[in-house]
Amino acid sequence: MGAKDGARPGVNRRLLLQGAVGAGGLVALGGLGAARSMVSAAAPPVKGSLNKLFIPLPAHATTELTAAPGLTDLGGGSMGRALLYNGHLPGPTFVVPKGQLVSVPFTNGLDAPTTVHWHGLIVPTVADGQPHDAIVPKSSYLYQFTVNQRAGMSWYHPHPHLATASQVAYGLAGGFIIRDDVEDALNLPSDPYEVPLVIRDANVDKAGNLSYNGKASGFTGSIPLVNGTRDAQLEVDQTWYRFRILIGSNSRLFNLTLSSGAFRLIGNDGGLLPTAVDVAAIELSPGERVDVLVDCTGIGAGETVNLVDTNSGWTLLRLTGTGALNAPTSVGRIPADGDALCVDIPTLVAPADVTRRTFSFDGMTRINGLVYDMDRISFEVPENTVEEWVFRTNGNAPHPVHIHGASFQVVSRTGGRRTLFEWEAGWKDTVLLHDRETVTVRIRFDGGHRGRYLMHCHKLEHEDAGMMLNFMVVDPNAQLGASPAAYDTAVPGPHGMAAQGHVSHK
Ligand code: C2O
Ligand code: CU
Repeated sequence: MGAKDGARPGVNRRLLLQGAVGAGGLVALGGLGAARSMVSAAAPPVKGSLNKLFIPLPAHATTELTAAPGLTDLGGGSMGRALLYNGHLPGPTFVVPKGQLVSVPFTNGLDAPTTVHWHGLIVPTVADGQPHDAIVPKSSYLYQFTVNQRAGMSWYHPHPHLATASQVAYGLAGGFIIRDDVEDALNLPSDPYEVPLVIRDANVDKAGNLSYNGKASGFTGSIPLVNGTRDAQLEVDQTWYRFRILIGSNSRLFNLTLSSGAFRLIGNDGGLLPTAVDVAAIELSPGERVDVLVDCTGIGAGETVNLVDTNSGWTLLRLTGTGALNAPTSVGRIPADGDALCVDIPTLVAPADVTRRTFSFDGMTRINGLVYDMDRISFEVPENTVEEWVFRTNGNAPHPVHIHGASFQVVSRTGGRRTLFEWEAGWKDTVLLHDRETVTVRIRFDGGHRGRYLMHCHKLEHEDAGMMLNFMVVDPNAQLGASPAAYDTAVPGPHGMAAQGHVSHK
């Protein structure tokens, strides 16, 4: 599977880049070519002065978390009001080994209810930060779960009923990195050569504060922020970097390219891919992550390579060479294009009588014709059983489809782009649906948690407007429709089987 680009970094591009830098100093170069093409031309220069990229602070398994309004440096000392986790945008990056018990005391310092949802983490319902479990202002809640999944980058963000979009747009988000022995054995570049990049768009008002005007189709801001920094620059030594990229926008899609060279893609939502692969461009939607290695060995002192979004034409981040040749001794051999990453990813196999559920993402507010109802349980899924879920849409896409409670494997895409991409291999928890596309995934809820989970469009304005549903993961031996007492968490509200999530058998 996978539509592999033949394009590779070209000698001409590097020469062009160096020539431009030599002649004109800070001339931004970026790909303006069609998606997934390395054909590129000069991008508009970065506006204003360049600001040092903010690196989120570290957090560990018991770091306290507070959401509150505050002032944040949006770059170069220009302070703006925003909603912040622990005083920062993004909030701290949790780094937690697999197997660890996470116990995060959270305090809501906002003037509205909020929750903390651990997007990509497979946790009990009571720790999932669902709209049902809102934390009211000035109160606290202990989020507790054991990390029982492979290494990868997840993230956390608010998920309150009807207000997820505005709280995220105003700044609430942070990264969550899991480590494990399999990944450690690869000796990939580590701090300061491993850098999380939380990419989003934003609007800033005249006073310099973050502003938000949601519209039904989805919010699109007028400037990019990388780790909360406008016109961001990172000084790079002449070595390989590992960028942990998260798209934290409300609705904007990004098509990432480098002004020179390709990404060596090694991971996505659910951790490392089976194989390292060079890709020239990566199309990503809100909630998706990629793990890429970038060769900065050829970026000499003062030379630059830009991370560019070809959809908007924005330069997101400028990498500027320091000229320092400190290849870290701890870094092992960088996996080459096509190298196996020595990870074990079992293929989910559908049983002969597989349950197939079909979900139609209708308009901008409904799934299978229904607007979200907090008290409706749309269907029940037996745990530890592979099912096929089919997502389709006719219009009003893109819809990034996100599922709580399990990772899935993308099996096929028909219509629209008609292909699967390199970054859709392995394990995913969010998959992009363009107009007229049908995407089929295989999913198995085997995290050991029965209870209520969510599926929704991760275009946050669509989610808040109702493009979301609840489902229940249940004991496969219990009868469907069993009483809530059969679940390991209390289930509020009436519990019935609605005519949603049409079930059919092959
Ligand atoms: Cu990232 Cu239900 O969300
Ligand atoms: Cu949508």
